[in-house]
Amino acid sequence: MRGIDGSADDHGDVLSFDSFRPDDELRRESILGLGNGALFVRASAPEARLAAPCSVSANGIASQHYPGIYRAGLYDLSTAKANGAIVRTASVPRLPNATVLAIRRPGGAWLGSNSAELVEYRHALDLCRGLALRTLVLRDASGTTTQIDETRFVSYANPFLIVLRWTVTACDWEGLIDIGTGTDANVCNGIVDSQRPLESAHIVDASHADTVDGLSCAVFRLAAIPVTVAVAARVDVDGQRTDVAQWQAWDEEHARFRLVRMPIARRTPLRIDRIVAVKTSRDVASAHPVDAACNEVRGAPHASRLQDAHRRAWTPGWEQSRIDSEDAALRLALNVRAFHVRQTVSPISAHEDLGIPARGWQEGYNGHVFWDDLFVLPEGARTQPALAKGPLMYRYERLDAARRAASSNGLRGALYPWRSATTGDEETPDFRYNPLDGHWMRDNTHLERHVGASIAWNIVHYVRMSGDDVYLRTYGAEMMVEIARMWASLSKLNATSGRYDIGGVIGPDEYHDGYPGAAAPGLLNNAYTNVMAMWTLRSARDILDELPAEDRAALVRKVDLAHDEPECWRTIASRLSVPFFDDGSISQFEGFDTLREVSDPRSFSPGHSRTDWFVETKGGTTNAWQLVKQPDVLMLFYLLRERGVRSLLEQAGYRFGREAAQRSLEQCLGRMTHESSLSRIVCAGALAGTDPKKSLAFFRRALETDHVPASGSAQEGLHLGSHASLLNVVLHHYAGVRYETDAIAFEPGWPPGLPRVRMGFNWRGQRFVLCADAAKAELHAAHDNDRTVDVRLAERTVCVAPGDSVNV
Ligand code: BGC
Repeated sequence: MRGIDGSADDHGDVLSFDSFRPDDELRRESILGLGNGALFVRASAPEARLAAPCSVSANGIASQHYPGIYRAGLYDLSTAKANGAIVRTASVPRLPNATVLAIRRPGGAWLGSNSAELVEYRHALDLCRGLALRTLVLRDASGTTTQIDETRFVSYANPFLIVLRWTVTACDWEGLIDIGTGTDANVCNGIVDSQRPLESAHIVDASHADTVDGLSCAVFRLAAIPVTVAVAARVDVDGQRTDVAQWQAWDEEHARFRLVRMPIARRTPLRIDRIVAVKTSRDVASAHPVDAACNEVRGAPHASRLQDAHRRAWTPGWEQSRIDSEDAALRLALNVRAFHVRQTVSPISAHEDLGIPARGWQEGYNGHVFWDDLFVLPEGARTQPALAKGPLMYRYERLDAARRAASSNGLRGALYPWRSATTGDEETPDFRYNPLDGHWMRDNTHLERHVGASIAWNIVHYVRMSGDDVYLRTYGAEMMVEIARMWASLSKLNATSGRYDIGGVIGPDEYHDGYPGAAAPGLLNNAYTNVMAMWTLRSARDILDELPAEDRAALVRKVDLAHDEPECWRTIASRLSVPFFDDGSISQFEGFDTLREVSDPRSFSPGHSRTDWFVETKGGTTNAWQLVKQPDVLMLFYLLRERGVRSLLEQAGYRFGREAAQRSLEQCLGRMTHESSLSRIVCAGALAGTDPKKSLAFFRRALETDHVPASGSAQEGLHLGSHASLLNVVLHHYAGVRYETDAIAFEPGWPPGLPRVRMGFNWRGQRFVLCADAAKAELHAAHDNDRTVDVRLAERTVCVAPGDSVNV
């Protein structure tokens, strides 16, 4: 099965590139990047900073290499002047490049792909071991050949450590070798075109110091937020800590480098290990981050022991999460996705106050948290449900901010922000930059109120999956109540129709943020928003009903819930408006059918990745057209499936049969530009039950996201929502595994043509393995499960004991 670049090894668990492509390097740095949930490091060539400084970007992307280290959840402030106003938003700052490492023969040039002939090259991601690997065989100007084998990891055992290991072999020479290392604090954020006008210099007052025992440390402040960060490093050669007296240091702008000269024997590998620690003033209770970072590095054992500890921490979880398939390309494609999700939602991040950034911990979308956790969380928690709790608690910790936002918008309950960072306040900038013409366009996406429904959805599904009633009683129910209250107060009774309307919102499709020519932004009765509001209102009421009496009473007191509120939610849910086309299919919002029709949405903005930007360069707006960026109505079918959509609509008094459902899907598909990475995979899920062939075609196209050279924006950060959804679609849509409170539902509809897949999951502490293809789907209960589980098939329910299987 096609859909991924690089090549798979025999086990399908190594993504590798066997030739150097300067024009693809920035994307590979991202896709081969490593993280542990607290740190993320792009896989940039460590030698480039010394061997070819011009190829390394300090602040722009007109370069081959963009070294970047990011601390999860660390945001600075970015500002820009836009149309006379000041735009402000939180941004994840790019930290100093602490992975500088290069070698040369004395008197020669530092070796790198620009300064020497590249005889052999390989850059790979070893998923099973959680390592990035590089091999370079370089021939210098004097004709001698040197091999560098690089192993890099971001420790899954220690949240603060990055380790870079080089084995250098002088293939056909011997003598002296210079080793250069350093930390370059002369970096700005600059890889995202559309964020470029934002203030990007986040590192201020950087200074470098060396300790008497041979460590180097860079310390700096963030420009706008009172946080100090220290990056300490140690270099060991052949397992020995190098003595500070051996080093020769030199400074460049905000950067300090060091050189040590030593002998190297022909064909006798020389091992150079660089161990880096990053600590911020937020990570340390009493010590200064400089002391903390230096102590971390000083106390770190030899790199091979760090690598062992990393392997021990990484492997067990990975073995459970890893997907198997005889089709090596599919296996690799799915595993690379699972890998990146595990690098973000990890046992380390579970203990920190961290949400799930839409693009991972890189600069894309400033590192903000959107609604994408709706897609990422099910995969992040697939084999370890407890990992979901971290991101869910991130939302709970910001419940008060959401309450304040509701109140300042004249609403009750909790109004969660569309884009969230540290405080939980709205981070959506008022304007966004159009890189095609340099204009600032109004950004109204803060009106995507549906983010509240995605948080509610995650709470309900986490509890179904984990059985964590304590979480529900202590935190989840309170959030559900406050989100339901928000929907209730946003809904206004329309005296003419006798139904409730929700106005002034935007659905997932961001190409419609208002009516053409209207004075204020926002739409009336976005179908996705309203149906998900119905779902939340009903779910919140059900949860209240099911809470033990004591907990319910405590919650009622805590949030001052009036006794008639839950009943009022039910009334609103059964009378919320949903717009329909004349043929009975769901319309995206009130008035969508009056907009101008487009015969071929994909050819509307030829050669441009964003139709809204293109249309704006012509003085127009996508609001005028029936042109849809990503699934909106269709999202309902992805989440609720046809059965759920019909049931909610019927409970709201609408007649909505199978044909209308079918027509709704067709109406949407014909208008979509698929300019969000979430688009095609959502279509695959939404169509899985009704049109497996079309669904699989979308699935295959979705496999290309981030994996096609010179396309998309993977270099800015990976599209985690799209990555995770590929796995969700396999497990929940194709294999038809759904978590219920008392059972697992299992109704496979495997698309013919999708190779056999084997993947594990955990439901309420019981482990299962799914093996499925078009001929047969099986669920195996692990031998060490501690109880029998009911598995609900289409026509019957079977009890599956530990070690047993069920086939469909
Ligand atoms: C999509 C949003 C998504 C965001 C971050 C946007 O392009 O329209 O739905 O949340 O990207 O991934």
